[in-house]
Parts: sequence; C-alpha cells; structure tokens
Amino acid sequence: MTTEIQRLSDHNTRNLSQNGHVGFDSLPDQLVNKSVSQGFCFNILCLGETGVGKSTLMDTLFNTKFDSTPSSHDLPGVKLRANTYELQESNVRLKLTIVDSVGFGDQINKEDSWKSLVDYTDAQFEAYLQEELKIKRSLHNFHDTRIHACLYFIAPTGHSLKALDLVTMKKLDSKVNIIPVIAKADTITKTELHKFKLKVMSELVNNGVHIYQFPTDDETVAELNGTMNAHLPFAVVGSDEEVKIGNKMVKARQYPWGTVQVENENHCDFVKLREMLIRTNMEDLRETTHSRHYELYRRNKLENMGFTDSESQSLSEVYDRKRTEHLAELQKKEEEMRQTFVIRVKETEGELKDAEKELHTRFDSLKKQHADEKKKLDDRKKTLEDQINEFNKRKAAVLAQAQSQQSTLKGKKK
Ligand code: GTP
Ligand code: MG
Repeated sequence: MTTEIQRLSDHNTRNLSQNGHVGFDSLPDQLVNKSVSQGFCFNILCLGETGVGKSTLMDTLFNTKFDSTPSSHDLPGVKLRANTYELQESNVRLKLTIVDSVGFGDQINKEDSWKSLVDYTDAQFEAYLQEELKIKRSLHNFHDTRIHACLYFIAPTGHSLKALDLVTMKKLDSKVNIIPVIAKADTITKTELHKFKLKVMSELVNNGVHIYQFPTDDETVAELNGTMNAHLPFAVVGSDEEVKIGNKMVKARQYPWGTVQVENENHCDFVKLREMLIRTNMEDLRETTHSRHYELYRRNKLENMGFTDSESQSLSEVYDRKRTEHLAELQKKEEEMRQTFVIRVKETEGELKDAEKELHTRFDSLKKQHADEKKKLDDRKKTLEDQINEFNKRKAAVLAQAQSQQSTLKGKKK
C-alpha cells in the first residue's frame, strides 16, 4: 500500500518554478561547512619490505617529519604500527593515520605474512560495524580507522614482482584500495623502469590482482585520472634532503654524478602520486572504502550471522530463529558435557574401587606377613626361654655340687 502511494507520487512529481530566490541552493555550502567543522580523517597503510623507503616517502608526501624508527630484519613475524597525527591546511583539519608494516619480507617462511595485514584491516571494519550496530551510535565523532589507501612499495629490482607481493596484494585487494608504487625509482634506469612498469602491470592482471583505479566517471577529473591510470605503478623517490636549484630549495637526492629532484616529473612520478592520492582522489578513496570494501565486509559478516535481505523474513524473525538455534546448540552442548561428566565420574568410581581392592589385598597380605613374623618370633622366644631354663637348671646343679664339695673339704680340715 505504502509503496503504491510512493510510486504514484513519484510519477506525479511536477516541475515548479519559484517566483523568487528561497535559498536551498546553499545546500552544498552547508555540506561543505559541516564537513570542514567536523574535520576529515584519512588512513594510509604503507606496505613494503623493511628499508624500502616507506617512512621517507610519507615525510616527503606530507612535507613533515613523522615519528619513525627503522626496523630490524630479524622479527619473527609481520606487525603493523599505527600512528595518528592532526594536520591542518588553511582551515581544513585532517586526522591522518599512517599504518606502517614492520618486518614485512624478512621471514624465511613468508607463508603467513599476509595474515596480520588481513586481520588488521578486518579488525578496523569490525570496529566500525560494532559502532554502527550500537543502539546509541556516534559515527560522526567515532575515530574511523578503516584503511583508505594501501601504498604497496615494490622493490626496484627491475625484474618482476615477487611471489610475496602477488600473494599479499591478492589477499588484500577486496579489502583495501591498493596503489602500487615502485620505491627508490632513482636506482633503476629509465629504460629498465619502463619495462619494469609494464611487467608489473601484466603480472598483476595475469594473477587477477585488482588495484585501485582512479575514477573516470566525474568529468572534471576523468581525463586526468584516465592518464594517471596509464602511469601506474608510480615510480617514486623520497628524500628529507633539500638542495638549492636555481634560487629555490627543492627536495632532492644528490649523487656524485647528479641530482634527482623529487618533484621533477622528468625524474620520477612523485608529483603524480601526490596529485592522485592527496589532491584529487582522497575523497574517492574514502568513499570507495566505505561503499565497496566495508560494504562487502559488512554483507559477509551479517550473512554469516544468518541475516538475509529476503522479504519473507523480518529482522525480528531472523533474530528469533537465530536465538532458537543458539539455545538448541547450547542445550546440545550442555547435554554432551553432562554425558562426559557422567562417564568421567563412572570411570573415576571404577578406578577408586580398583584402588580400594588393591589396598585391601595389600593389607591382608601385610597382616598375614605380620602374623607369620610374630609366630616365628614367639617360637624363637620359647626356644630361648627353654634354653635359659635349662641353663639355669644346670647352673643350680653345678652350684649345689660346688657347695657340697666345699662343705666336705671344710669337714676334713676340722
Ligand atoms: P623501515 O621502516 O625500517 O622498514 O624502513 P622504511 O621502508 O621506512 O625506509 P626508510 O624511509 O627508513 O629508508 C631507508 C633508507 O632508504 C634510508 O637510508 C633512506 O634515505 C633511503 N631511501 C628512502 N627513499 C629513497 C629513495 O627514494 N631512493 C633511494 N635511493 N634511497 C631512498
Ligand atoms: Mg620506516
């Protein structure tokens, strides 16, 4: 009924013109003002081997010095380290979180290197979902830590991608926007770099790895984004060092044979990356994270929990069904535990009875042993007593004989 009315009113929508300006054309401005006052948040995952140049590139990109400690190569597993910073440009506040991979590519067995990365991205989605499912939600001041962009640093081997790169990107491509970059691009020649870029792209395509494509549906940026897509993966150079070129101080890396200027497009793609990541597509990266990656996570999670969008079952019906299933499962588990308990009690009872029987047998045998010993001792005692009596008798006889002899001798002397 309601749907019907809705549809009718949609069909009946008429275009009207006002007789004067009423002011709802300020809606976009209102939106901008609201967003500016709330501030923005952007989260980048820097993923790449130890020492590949992650921290230097971040410092160069945001023209500042973030906290970073170089990692050692002997960590037993891959970890992630997140740091959040408040930045401000004009009146725009940006809460930037940089998540650094630590120990990536350093283990002999790299089989599970991707696991902690997937767990981390899922955990951020889960935190957002939990906030969304709360009765009292406060999403506007919730610190959203979902990863908006993953800069994947490819080592400048000039050869091909490593198995670790392909596996990791494949595991992550449905969870984050991956932007591959060739790190330390100043260490590879121009011709090698060109071939390497083509090789990397063809390997990604052949292995079905989906990387982030700069959007071409908005005509204001379609041409620029289209051209930039063709430049992927960006070959980047980072540097904390400033060098005077002409009368300007520029970020550069100096070598005995020359200087590589970070912001010179003939030297590397740093400017392209900054343009795409920060200046043109930051909002699209945030939007895609929410509408594609988070949506997929949310859908899978809710489906696994038994929720469906089918009209035959309302949310409360699904809840009731799940609750009944859960209670039945609980009852089954309780019954199983009871059975196990009874069996254990019976087993213990049997064991105790056996022990008691054994104790009785041992007691009886000890009692018998004791009685035998006692009898033996009594016999010995009796024999000894007989011997003592015999001895005493003989002693008395000998004494009597000696006395009679003595009295006979005394008589004779007289
Ligand atoms: P961990 O955090 O320890 O994993 O290292 P990282 O990936 O953050 O690398 P970091 O930025 O600390 O750089 C490691 C070394 O590489 C430093 O000596 C940098 O000066 C150097 N480096 C960084 N970027 C570049 C680059 O673009 N080209 C060259 N040639 N060297 C670079
Ligand atoms: Mg670092």
